[in-house]
Amino acid sequence: MSEALVLTETRGRVALVTLNRPKALNALNDALIDELFAVLRRHDQDDGIGAIVLTGSEKAFAAGADIAAMQPMTFQDVYKSDYIGGNWEALRRIRKPVIAAVAGYALGGGCELAMLCDIIIAADNARFGQPEIKLGIIPGFGGTQRLPRAVGKAKAMDLILTARMMDAEEAERAGLVSRVVPADRLLDEALNAATVIASMSLPSVMMAKECVNAAYESPLHEGLLFERRNFHALFSTQDQKEGMQAFLEKRQPVFRHE
Ligand code: CAA
Repeated sequence: MSEALVLTETRGRVALVTLNRPKALNALNDALIDELFAVLRRHDQDDGIGAIVLTGSEKAFAAGADIAAMQPMTFQDVYKSDYIGGNWEALRRIRKPVIAAVAGYALGGGCELAMLCDIIIAADNARFGQPEIKLGIIPGFGGTQRLPRAVGKAKAMDLILTARMMDAEEAERAGLVSRVVPADRLLDEALNAATVIASMSLPSVMMAKECVNAAYESPLHEGLLFERRNFHALFSTQDQKEGMQAFLEKRQPVFRHE
């Protein structure tokens, strides 16, 4: 049997998901994306999981969509199959927080996959870019839309039109990345952050994620109302009573995540 393209294990309430096509620098082919979606959906539906860490190898988070697989494709092939669209949309609908722990290359579809996650923590050797223009195409998994929202128009245009790579420090300065850590501490840092998130009440974590995402997709007044209604809804949970009672009693809360 061939080796799994995506490995996964759980550590308490955290799931660690590792892209496992290292010889091809985790190039994203259909089989890998299918497996990734199946694994993430399983964790998303598991009440015992509160946060997910997605990582690659030391050399590459993912070097993009699989160029060898794409090279012979015709317009009819990619249009009729809506190439990658379906599964990619499904990945976007994962409701639990996903932290991308990025070491090495995150290029093309790899950068787009990291941007699909909720938080990017980068190793100091990480390199981000959208080099599709060198292949005679453009980013197709969200790069032209998510990169400008993350880093602004000027830097997004620069990266997408010149195909240059941005190192971890520049990515942090630009706001793409939330933390940069030495490469040998990357996984610990991401798992610790995920453990902190998973210790919070799950309904409030999921609603917080939905509300922050709404900031990208709605006018301010609609986003503010969406936030306020979700804020109100959390007063129906036992975890809200417990979280506030614990504060008043100067102790740690014991959340039921429901
Ligand atoms: N697709 C398929 N195979 C890839 C790949 C990709 N995106 N990236 C790397 N590989 C393969 C290489 O072909 C090579 O395979 P072989 O050993 O069989 O020859 C192996 O991975 C190792 O790669 P290199 O020998 O090239 O490693 P390197 O250290 O010299 O260079 C690199 C690393 C700079 C990342 C270089 O591999 C590279 O430029 N890769 C392509 C990056 C790219 O263009 N990504 C965008 C893809 S298009 C896309 O993603 C479209 C979209 O938005 C949807």
